[in-house]
Amino acid sequence: MKIGLLGFGTVGKGVYKLTAARQDMLVSRVLCRRELSLPDAEVTHDFADILRDSTIDTVVEAIGGLHPAFEYVKAAIEAGKNVVTANKALMATCYDELLPLAEEKGVLLRCTASVGGGIGWLSELERVRRIETITQVGGIMNGTCNFILDSMTRLNLSYDAALRQAQFLGYAEADPSTDVDGIDTWHKLIVSANIAFGVSLDRDGIPAAGIRRVTADDMAQFHAHGYVCKLVSFACRQEKGFAAFVQPTLFPNRALEASVPTNYNLITLVGSTSGRQSFYGQGAGRYPTAYNVVQDCMDIQKGTGFYCRYGSKAAVHNDLPMRYYLRGGEWQDAETRWGDAVITKPVSVAEMHHWLSRHPEAFIAALPAEE
Ligand code: HSE
Repeated sequence: MKIGLLGFGTVGKGVYKLTAARQDMLVSRVLCRRELSLPDAEVTHDFADILRDSTIDTVVEAIGGLHPAFEYVKAAIEAGKNVVTANKALMATCYDELLPLAEEKGVLLRCTASVGGGIGWLSELERVRRIETITQVGGIMNGTCNFILDSMTRLNLSYDAALRQAQFLGYAEADPSTDVDGIDTWHKLIVSANIAFGVSLDRDGIPAAGIRRVTADDMAQFHAHGYVCKLVSFACRQEKGFAAFVQPTLFPNRALEASVPTNYNLITLVGSTSGRQSFYGQGAGRYPTAYNVVQDCMDIQKGTGFYCRYGSKAAVHNDLPMRYYLRGGEWQDAETRWGDAVITKPVSVAEMHHWLSRHPEAFIAALPAEE
């Protein structure tokens, strides 16, 4: 396999190093803005050099972001090249364009590293779907947010100090707002749910709340009441359509989610016969992510393409009732108070996120149903 590698940042460099040690694949050209010299690959500033090179059968996209990643991936597919990408923003946003195009052109497209870093989550969804219906997916999908919340919980670090450390360790996106506002988790949820359910979910119906406003006082309240706060995604099949959302959520200390450390992810599916299956591993970082890119390249060598056929558009209805910890705004229907915050009576997810969109200074976290 001859690879044209787009990008030589955290992930691209990892892919280059892992493939350099292999006999079955070669990165022969690298697209990079910087001046760079590599022993085994030609470095170019011009994507056309990769597109025109007929010896390159597979393009690995490790640029991140939507543009120019979308234009490059689309052009590669149109040129008949297989594509491996770690880009969740691209796969979530351009799903309706890229997946049918790959099917039409008969090229293989994979994106396992786009959700869960080093966890083989998307590839496992494909295997589960062969046997049974997946009824629910979700969990801790963002290493940066988990690192921040874990550092605040266990090490009493301030929010800012924890975020700086996550950036230093290479976990955060170029713009860390994408992480802390829940957008990265939102992208990963969309990709996961589309594959798990074989549909294209209505993205506009999926709200995301992040952790930007969380404080040390919030953490103290959670600790006092026996909870740990995590940023989680959730999507499930319902009688009519699907529910899907991203929000900070409180887990009792004994829950699996509560003990997920540093940049680790814990992602769960519920299968109609297998029940709950959870996947745990490093959700961010150079080598965990590069590992799954190389796995995808090997799958492509075997002729394995996308995880499911392109499915129809599906509506999202978030009418599930939940109780929330809410600080930084007035709420009419409170059940009790925790310090400066209220615990609301059950309210639909849609209503709470609608309220939050009008009170961006507030912080919310959902409480588990049974508590
Ligand atoms: N910024 C992402 C995270 C990188 O922190 O999880 C991996 O997708």
